[in-house]
Amino acid sequence: MSYENIEVRTEAGKVGIITLNRPKALNALNDALMTELGQALKAFDADDAIGCIILTGSERAFAAGADIAAMAKYSFIDTYKGDYITRNWETIRSIRKPVIGAVAGFALGGGCELAMMCDFIIAADNAKFGQPEIKIGVIPGAGGTQRLPRAVGKSKAMDMVLTARMMDAAEAERAGLVSRVVPFEKLADEALGAALIICGYSQISVMAAKESVNRAFESGLSDGVMFERRLFHALFATVDQKEGMDAFLNKRAPDFKNA
Ligand code: HXC
Repeated sequence: MSYENIEVRTEAGKVGIITLNRPKALNALNDALMTELGQALKAFDADDAIGCIILTGSERAFAAGADIAAMAKYSFIDTYKGDYITRNWETIRSIRKPVIGAVAGFALGGGCELAMMCDFIIAADNAKFGQPEIKIGVIPGAGGTQRLPRAVGKSKAMDMVLTARMMDAAEAERAGLVSRVVPFEKLADEALGAALIICGYSQISVMAAKESVNRAFESGLSDGVMFERRLFHALFATVDQKEGMDAFLNKRAPDFKNA
């Protein structure tokens, strides 16, 4: 499929790479882009050869937010009745394979929210995260007030949402918003390296691991631990559990069948 607002390619036949591509608007996220992003994510998720997905932008911007020019004229009825945002923004949350956010430059507003919807974020040293919606008379609308406090705590989240200040990559790593920071020149390789490692594991256990970690944000501790235990038990029904443990015991590399 051909896209106008994103670029899509695969690496090593097993990593799906989606690059946000509206450079003139710093990758501002409009309805067409979010629809294309959802389509590309779903296509990779359905492709058995793909084990991990990377979502990235440019050196200058991952995404500078939802497209303000497109939003400016909307009325409440447009947003509510037309289901603007929720209609196609949360597709990424339904993707069962891991999605790594490889973030350089601005990740602001909806751009920060989209990054936070990835499973983890690897940041370039020039990355800047922020929720500046307050400056244009609104508030975050794609989960920023919910995911940011879970990632960095209430105080820092309130600070960012209320003052609109940006957080640089070093602060984002200290605060736990991103998992690693690397020089911009190494960002693509770092993300690809992580993705290839994930692709080496059983897709079944990778999927279960993602599902279980995500459950930590949706349930209390004992429910979450029970959920994890059930998935852990279920993995003993897989070919790959037998293969992984046998390979360890026989000091050989495992050959996972995703079965
Ligand atoms: C539409 C945008 C945009 C955006 C930048 N541009 N951000 N267009 N929507 N969110 C456009 C500019 O209008 C400009 O177009 C071009 O990109 C380059 O931007 P500049 O401002 O000239 O660059 P610079 O001076 O380097 O400043 C970069 C910036 C600034 C700090 C990122 O652009 C900025 O503050 N952008 C808005 C950030 C923001 O408020 N994001 C939250 C949006 S609300 P021209 O044509 O003039 O060259 C939101 C709500 C989410 O995200 C709700 C859930 C979806």
